[in-house]
Amino acid sequence: MDRDQLTATAAALVAPGKGILAADESSPTIAKRFAGIQVESTADTRRAYRELLFTAREIEAHISGVILFEETLRQASAAGRPFPQLLADRGIIPGIKVDKGAKALAGFPGEKITEGLDGLRERLADYAGLGARFAKWRAVIVIGDHIPTPGSLAANAHALARYAALCQEAGLVPIVEPEVLMDGEHTIERCARVTEQTLAAVFAELAHQRVLLEGMLLKPNMVIPGLGCPQQADPVEVARRTVASFRRVVPAAVPGIVFLSGGQSSQVATANLNAMNALGAHPWELSFSYGRALQEDTLKAWAGQAANVSRAQEIFRRRAYCNGEARYGRYAPAMENPR
Ligand code: 13P
Repeated sequence: MDRDQLTATAAALVAPGKGILAADESSPTIAKRFAGIQVESTADTRRAYRELLFTAREIEAHISGVILFEETLRQASAAGRPFPQLLADRGIIPGIKVDKGAKALAGFPGEKITEGLDGLRERLADYAGLGARFAKWRAVIVIGDHIPTPGSLAANAHALARYAALCQEAGLVPIVEPEVLMDGEHTIERCARVTEQTLAAVFAELAHQRVLLEGMLLKPNMVIPGLGCPQQADPVEVARRTVASFRRVVPAAVPGIVFLSGGQSSQVATANLNAMNALGAHPWELSFSYGRALQEDTLKAWAGQAANVSRAQEIFRRRAYCNGEARYGRYAPAMENPR
């Protein structure tokens, strides 16, 4: 394991003012997003949309890395530049989603396990050869009546740790993503408890599997109430509770926490991250690795039309800028609308 290289890549991904774009929607997921704007999902529409994102001007000031789906890792711009190379030339680190999705966990109704460990060593070598320098694996934790169970938390934590160890062996920084879903009517207190239990299980397994904490990033949910909970929380409460929970269970050796947006609106995701960074110095960098919250408005503005590309790119650049400011705790809603 090349510890120096892993540590340097992890640090670069959470450089000041920067965060990660998650553009690694699987083919079924991007088809769903495209259906929302009445665009057919084909290899070429997917390629055109990803090119729009990757070629937006000045995004390298706010975007440190991009997580790609395997298809995109192997695609090229209209001018023929392979996407990983196009990104690297801009100073943006290419990454790759390597899990094979969350499936039903046998014997645990309502709970999930992420698949994809078999053959992962060989796939990682292939991805590294194509230019990927970091990876992502998402575990899904569902809150409901009597779930999550200790059995499902242990299984998901184990898979995340096995994945992380294989990534580090291959020289790729693992992004370890245990996502506690925001679906449900649970309170913010329940989310805090489940998030802490989940992260405690994950870090115990990472230690068992000898994962170098300095050479990884954590991609968690924020501590927020369920979507259906009548008592919602403002950014200051989300920030206080999230940071309090993480201080209990995330070792200070982890260089950065890069949040997922998980279904929060773009502006709420930015405001919540901003509130956390405004709370002051933390043991880790607090950053973003947003999918929907970075892309929603851009996708709508594009609507599959070449004529809309430059306006959609400006919207994406503005979103990246606002999140970059939230990294310093100095985002204000007025920044949403350029004068
Ligand atoms: P969202 O920000 O849309 O939750 O996506 C982030 C991600 O990569 C989920 O795995």
